[in-house]
Amino acid sequence: FEVDWDSSAADKGGWSSFMAKEVSEGPIAVENTMRGRLTDRGVDLDLGVLDADVLRGIHRIVIVACGTAAYSAMVGKYAIETWARVPVEVDLAHEFRYRDPMLDEHTLVISISQSGETMDTKMAVQHAASRGARTLSICNTQGATIPRESEAVLYTHAGPEVAVASTKAFLAQVIGQLLFGLHLAKLRGTMTDDAIAEVVAEMRELPDELREVLAEQTSVHELAHWMSDTRSVLFLGRHVGYPVALEGALKLKEISYIHAEGFAGGELKHGPIALIEPGQVVFVVVPSPRNEPLLHSKIVSNIQEIRARGARIIAVAEAGDAAVLPYADVVLRVPLTLPMLEPVLQVVPLHIFALELATAKGLDVDQPRNLAKSVTVE
Ligand code: G6P
Repeated sequence: FEVDWDSSAADKGGWSSFMAKEVSEGPIAVENTMRGRLTDRGVDLDLGVLDADVLRGIHRIVIVACGTAAYSAMVGKYAIETWARVPVEVDLAHEFRYRDPMLDEHTLVISISQSGETMDTKMAVQHAASRGARTLSICNTQGATIPRESEAVLYTHAGPEVAVASTKAFLAQVIGQLLFGLHLAKLRGTMTDDAIAEVVAEMRELPDELREVLAEQTSVHELAHWMSDTRSVLFLGRHVGYPVALEGALKLKEISYIHAEGFAGGELKHGPIALIEPGQVVFVVVPSPRNEPLLHSKIVSNIQEIRARGARIIAVAEAGDAAVLPYADVVLRVPLTLPMLEPVLQVVPLHIFALELATAKGLDVDQPRNLAKSVTVE
């Protein structure tokens, strides 16, 4: 009698891969990142030296990051600008560090990194500090280099992430930025207490809503098997759905080795529509018609344009959105939430799709070829 005991299988807690385990941990990652930081009327954040006076003096924010973290930053930009009325730019850390950005003590440079060790992000923080900007790290790894080199840190508490492709850490990074956006809005007086309380109440719902999303993924499984020979997939989104589209495409490239591109819906007629031919699969991230009727109608017209050219549409849409049904071949449902919170739910079916497709192709989802979890070298 021989026990085929694989030590890594133990760490996976019965899951087929670390990625599968980490996707399943999304709700707890979000819960832990919010824990102790939400109060009935707002957000309770202690950012050390970046206190109320310093933050009230900030005129501009630049968020620097790489990969998935940079897509989370694009969501953060929309939320922070809308809530706190401070201009926010997102820059890839490797672009930022090799250019000559305009920075001063009224600029806050926020770095986002799961590992806290990404070389380009670390160098971007040093670049910012050397030019007098204030620095905040949003990081998932306690005591890592980037938070140590930053003036203050807001830790995400997604727990260790082992799979190369980042999943639950993305959710926690978005949450970290939402918390920061509310904190800043409160300090700057740009949101009423009631408006803040409404967001807080919706954020508290996210863990259970994520559990719902995770429980309803049989259609994604079937879809991935049906599509295992697909060679190219496009992703379309608008507003905060745009970074979700980019993240969906990145994940598919990373672990399924399929050509995948994400586009902003409004760019369609400036190029991407030329790629649409009969049978082309396009994932469309659809904002809620209840919250965002204008954006919803814009994305529905994008869908009509590509469908008329023979594309097959897979929509990620809110549970009550009936308007999308006539235009989509498959609809993956997520619960209704506030617009800025939608990415946390919408990204999950896309993560699972990439995972299922890579699995259907027999690939190693945790260790994709040519990639490293943390790029710590030049
Ligand atoms: C690598 C990983 C990605 C990650 C990126 C940034 O490319 O494969 O999953 O998003 O680095 O990593 P960081 O640790 O800085 O978030």
